[in-house]
Amino acid sequence: MLLIGPFAQILPMTGLSLKGALQDEQLTVIEKGGIVVEEGRIVAVGEYLSLQQQYPASELAFIDTPMVLLPGFIDCHTHICYDGTRNRDYAMRIAGKTYLEIARAGGGIWDSVSKTRVADTVTLVENTIARANRHLLEGVTTIEVKSGYGLNLDSELKMLRAIQRASMYTKATLVPTCLAAHMKPRDYTGTEEAYLDWIIQELLPVLKTEQLTNRVDIFIEETAFSAPAAADFLHKARQLGFAATVHADQFSAGGSAVAVAAGALSADHLEASSEKEINLLAKSDTVAVVLPGASLGLGMQYAPARKLLDAGASVAIASDWNPGSAPMGDLLIQAAVMSAAEKLSTAEVLAALTVRAAPALEIRDAGQLQAGFVADLQAYPTADYRDILYYQGKMKPAIVWKKGEPVK
Ligand code: NIG
Ligand code: FE
Repeated sequence: MLLIGPFAQILPMTGLSLKGALQDEQLTVIEKGGIVVEEGRIVAVGEYLSLQQQYPASELAFIDTPMVLLPGFIDCHTHICYDGTRNRDYAMRIAGKTYLEIARAGGGIWDSVSKTRVADTVTLVENTIARANRHLLEGVTTIEVKSGYGLNLDSELKMLRAIQRASMYTKATLVPTCLAAHMKPRDYTGTEEAYLDWIIQELLPVLKTEQLTNRVDIFIEETAFSAPAAADFLHKARQLGFAATVHADQFSAGGSAVAVAAGALSADHLEASSEKEINLLAKSDTVAVVLPGASLGLGMQYAPARKLLDAGASVAIASDWNPGSAPMGDLLIQAAVMSAAEKLSTAEVLAALTVRAAPALEIRDAGQLQAGFVADLQAYPTADYRDILYYQGKMKPAIVWKKGEPVK
């Protein structure tokens, strides 16, 4: 047993409602706190001095400077398994070229598909590990990772196998998701319905047999898949036992209604959601995942996080780390910058990165500091938790623990 502390403040992120607006006064803040861990799990969280008395036999990991302890962040939406850059797209975009002009010049998702298809598995494994480890050192201890740059049997399997292999070589927890429905591949000659049926009939059974993932995602958009085709796809995938998540309402509204009707765990993006979608999400159990990194990368408006919270939705914030629309991959900077624009309280932002992100991945033992939960922890070099957003993500954790072991 190990007692870690004392911490100037511990924010256990417990006892918070999963839905709706939060005020900072609702945060539990344990001053002069400590945490007891054993075999990767949390045994107790409380005042340091009383933990010392309750667990006199524990070893001590003494923290000798002021620190604020939080649960590790959960990034519930990324595309970090890819090869190649899209810096040419980005340069064209900031120079004012449109989506269509960039696509015509050979850019867009298809460019990353072409580059990822020719990459070997080892390269994809190494790329994924490197990005996951960068996240881990920045306090992100659980990371969802999508396929979706393969879009045929061999390359989707290559990506998902690479993610599985990468998870054995990084200490971060990786949660894989099949995004074969990212777009209809350009070299597929059939209809969108036929392509989606191919995923259901040919790809998902292999994913099940190889236990590569039990999650599917689909991009609903004019340039990707239509709402009716997606609804049918999600229904069939759910019948096969897959949990669902949706790229919804990014450029045009409509996808989130399909996500809610399908009982999806989350509807992600939402930059184009209107009152109707906001109210639908608020009434549902589907987590509204906002992706400020994509807004920053595309130079477009943020998702209406404030309105979603005020309507009563559960809002998580994820990085969307991908080579095209969100290359930065710094979750805390993105969340902090969005909070200033959208007027999100510190409590809402920190919950969106921890306790409110966990349900999007069906995780029940991370995102909060309480007995029995996994000891994924991060400590910031300050005595006041408000500094974390005040420095707009520039202040990084000084120590990160994964399953009770320091990784930084
Ligand atoms: O979440 N919206 C669609 N898919 C990704 C972008 C992927 C890419 O451009 O490569 C996203 O932003
Ligand atoms: Fe995405």
